[in-house]
Amino acid sequence: MMDDVELACLGPASADRFAVRPLTRRPPGKGEIEVRVEATSVNPIDVRRSDGYGARLFRLMKAGRFPLVLGNDFAGSITAVGEDVQNLSTGDAVFGLKPASANGTHATHVIAKAAHVLKAAASREPCELAILPYSFVTMYLALRGTGLTRDNARGQDVLVHGASGGLGLLAVQLLAQWGANVTAIGWADSHSLLRSAGASNAVDAASKPFAGLDAHFTATLNFASWDDDLALIGCLRTGALGHATTVHPLLATIDRLGWVRGAVASMTIKRRHRMALPAGCRRYGWTLFRPDQEALTELGAVSSHIFLPVGCSVSLAQGPAAFAHVRDGKQGRAVIRPSD
Ligand SMILES: NC(=O)c1ccc[n+]([C@@H]2O[C@H](COP(=O)([O-])OP(=O)(O)OC[C@H]3O[C@@H](n4cnc5c(N)ncnc54)[C@H](OP(=O)(O)O)[C@@H]3O)[C@@H](O)[C@H]2O)c1
Repeated sequence: MMDDVELACLGPASADRFAVRPLTRRPPGKGEIEVRVEATSVNPIDVRRSDGYGARLFRLMKAGRFPLVLGNDFAGSITAVGEDVQNLSTGDAVFGLKPASANGTHATHVIAKAAHVLKAAASREPCELAILPYSFVTMYLALRGTGLTRDNARGQDVLVHGASGGLGLLAVQLLAQWGANVTAIGWADSHSLLRSAGASNAVDAASKPFAGLDAHFTATLNFASWDDDLALIGCLRTGALGHATTVHPLLATIDRLGWVRGAVASMTIKRRHRMALPAGCRRYGWTLFRPDQEALTELGAVSSHIFLPVGCSVSLAQGPAAFAHVRDGKQGRAVIRPSD
């Protein structure tokens, strides 16, 4: 069993990109809990942040200067409860998330807001739960960006790009549960998984996926590639709800051009895409992850029957292998088990 440690990312200029180092714990404050982390995830954003991506924006959140402990998700058991925390006790099995910070979840213990934590279903393993919150909440924010809700999705045609990945597979499952007809663009080897997850149609991402799709969709979601954003907008019908993308150039543009020129350039690009929306459609969203109570409540409601495949599960000392798994685009989510 590990002592109290964390996996620090030392930055792209460092010969050794990561180091396991002692963790200084503090008692949870008002509205906070401390969790002993059984499992945490490595998402594409962690790999990008380890390369310095988004540094200007993350510095605003005191999360942009190396060394950084990365990671947003965790599953484990509560070790301490701060003042004014109701309905959670020491020993409870929980899972949840943290916003971007310099002391993320790749550690044996994390402090999180009690409001960002859900009780874990006894039927689910920490590894299965620790890969859900960050991806689910971002996916949910994207759905909301299109205007789709549990109340209006039934019978609507929705197009999901990047469906073989984490956000895409979660979107397929949630939209199918909401009664939408989901067309999923994904790699051919994931099509049977996508159909079993609830997709009505699966389109091969490798062979000109937009060529055979006409403009009949109520909402389109881009979890794959900015290059395809206009093609997805072109699949919306007149009077559609809207489009949202998690793959947009905002952070990279601000990194490259600075705050003012970056913001102006981003607005210009965004306006150009918004103008491509069909008549009667007004929603066009660039999704940015943030903790969101409504999304977490929805995750709590579906967490016992929603899943992502795990492709890699390693100890904290082997954490760099989990980053390599994501960087190399290998299948399945990457999990770190800090308590092993
Ligand atoms: N804005 C935010 O706050 C936010 C938050 C979370 C995630 N994201 C971004 O959202 C995207 C989805 O996240 P995720 O965790 O689901 O990532 P993921 O698991 O890597 O899934 C992305 C999927 O899209 C596929 N893809 C990439 N480029 C493609 C292309 N040109 N044509 C067809 N398919 C393509 C990928 O295939 P390969 O694996 O073969 O490349 C993969 O199956 C990522 O880019 C992530 O960085 C943004």
